[in-house]
Amino acid sequence: MVVKIPYYIIVLGTAGSGKTTLTSMLMNYLDSHQMDVAAVNLDPAVEELPYNPDVDIREWVDAREVMVKRGLGPNGALIASVDMLALNIGELKDEVDSLKSNYIIIDTPGQLEIFAFRDSGPVVLRTIIGDSKAVSLFLIDGLYALKPSNLFSAMLLSASTFFRIKYPQINVFTKIDLLSEAEYSGLLSMIENPEELASRVVEDADINLMWSSEEVYGLAEKLYSFESVPVSNNSGQGFDDLYALIQRVLAGGEDYL
Ligand code: GTP
Repeated sequence: MVVKIPYYIIVLGTAGSGKTTLTSMLMNYLDSHQMDVAAVNLDPAVEELPYNPDVDIREWVDAREVMVKRGLGPNGALIASVDMLALNIGELKDEVDSLKSNYIIIDTPGQLEIFAFRDSGPVVLRTIIGDSKAVSLFLIDGLYALKPSNLFSAMLLSASTFFRIKYPQINVFTKIDLLSEAEYSGLLSMIENPEELASRVVEDADINLMWSSEEVYGLAEKLYSFESVPVSNNSGQGFDDLYALIQRVLAGGEDYL
């Protein structure tokens, strides 16, 4: 008997970048392409989800309850909740292991820094994923990325997140339905061409760079080792390309089945 190991898709990004909405749209996309997909919610503070999680951290810890019981602020409660989960990960891991899906999408907490830049987040991910294959999607708000210095700093953040999470990573630019045609092609030219981004960052009079243009260009070239894809989580635009990139990382371009 061939045992199927699920592929994991980790959804990361700053607050409001579209993690939850993308999780929901990607579930629908995979489902409509006859893929068996499940979702794990790791955000203990979320109130409403646009999808039905198959495994939900809130079964074990609720950030709002932690806030009241321990007299903590929202960030302190989130930190305590993820730490509590890391200490009691066994049951959640058993639930995830009992899923029979081809793909398991992991939706992470709103505050990226609390999850990715502390010990517990990567420990939780590694425990859940074990020896299976995984890809991280690093979400960047497409509207925010229109300004070259914003795009450059978001790509730096993506790179430092990769150093923490350590799975192959794809940069996903969300909310492209909110861009005009001119804005969309401006964004594309920057995300496809490191030289364009570097020269526009150096030209930006608003920032006082500590690097020369050669250094910015060198850095930009390195940051482009991550693949990028623009999507709309509302219309589904770009999801064929996103799926193709995910498959390239997880299965060398082959469909799961
Ligand atoms: P937190 O976890 O709460 O920090 O946010 P998140 O990263 O999960 O983002 P969420 O999916 O909640 O999206 C934030 C807001 O952006 C919501 O109002 C979404 O409806 C909206 N949004 C997300 N993706 C898109 C998109 O592709 N297009 C448009 N127009 N809106 C989007």
